[in-house]
Amino acid sequence: MNYLCPTYLCPICAGPLSLQDKSLACEQRHQFDLAKEGYVNLLPVQHKNSKNPGDNKEMMQARREFLDQGFYQSLSDKVNSIAQQALATVDTPHILDLGCGEGYYTHRLAQAITDASDATISNVDSATVDSNQKLQIAGLDISKSAVRYAAKRYKSISFCVASAYATPFADASQDLVTRIYAPSQNDELARIIKADGYLITVTPAAEHLFELKQKIYQTPEKHDMEIEEIAGFYVVEQQRLTNEITLTQAKDSKNLLEMTPLAWKMNDEQKAALYAADLTLTLDFNITLYKRTA
Ligand SMILES: C[S@@+](CC[C@H](N)C(=O)[O-])C[C@H]1O[C@@H](n2cnc3c(N)ncnc32)[C@H](O)[C@@H]1O
Ligand SMILES: [Zn+2]
Repeated sequence: MNYLCPTYLCPICAGPLSLQDKSLACEQRHQFDLAKEGYVNLLPVQHKNSKNPGDNKEMMQARREFLDQGFYQSLSDKVNSIAQQALATVDTPHILDLGCGEGYYTHRLAQAITDASDATISNVDSATVDSNQKLQIAGLDISKSAVRYAAKRYKSISFCVASAYATPFADASQDLVTRIYAPSQNDELARIIKADGYLITVTPAAEHLFELKQKIYQTPEKHDMEIEEIAGFYVVEQQRLTNEITLTQAKDSKNLLEMTPLAWKMNDEQKAALYAADLTLTLDFNITLYKRTA
């Protein structure tokens, strides 16, 4: 399965980049090498506020192992079904997963959109249409470790290292941007999403991982449930997805802790106690679908 590659913009002069041998280059000859894993690093040094911005390799490995166990699959499925509905009438959707991490959600979304378009094609009985050409999808993250992990596993998706605050995409180029537990800037979202295009955000809802917080804080706080207003968009719907998981293996509890900033709040003794027992946790997400005002 191959998806269409986006046309990236040069992070230095904003001109379009085209493939030249094993790198991307603009007319002004700014050049960005494709890594052996297939991704491109479009983060200029002046946009880095640390040597290795974003989540580190250990967090990425923990997240991959945890997500691979399917603990967050219900979230991925819900995002995908909202995306399928929103894009039902778009011919060749252009999708960007902002803060894509190690690519779990990006890959599952690509499959779901392709499956939906294959189903439409077989309904109208024109099996000759090449489903490979029905989707353009990209994943962006500021963490090189994340993008390397993503590109190595999901070879048909285009991944880039870049900042969510200054993305290498043209104005009004995206039919859908997903932002799952990642930062973004409102003006940048409004710039790159097409008129009538969509944004799906996932944020923690009130009870998310509350049992874990109770083990860390004396007076743990619940997450704020207020729907974020984003200039240039209106809210089409917000859904809350709540379920419970029980982690019976120490490695799963360890991975969960280490993929979140909560890991820094626990000492080794508290961690050992946490890993020794079964851990029942509430997963609680707000999934919001926004539409760009025309
Ligand atoms: C909590 S993780 C979520 C990753 C993925 N969406 C998931 O749910 O598995 C947040 C991600 O945002 C990335 N990130 C942080 N700051 C960023 C920025 N300014 N631009 C792009 N990505 C950023 C991190 O590197 C990390 O991969
Ligand atoms: Zn350039």
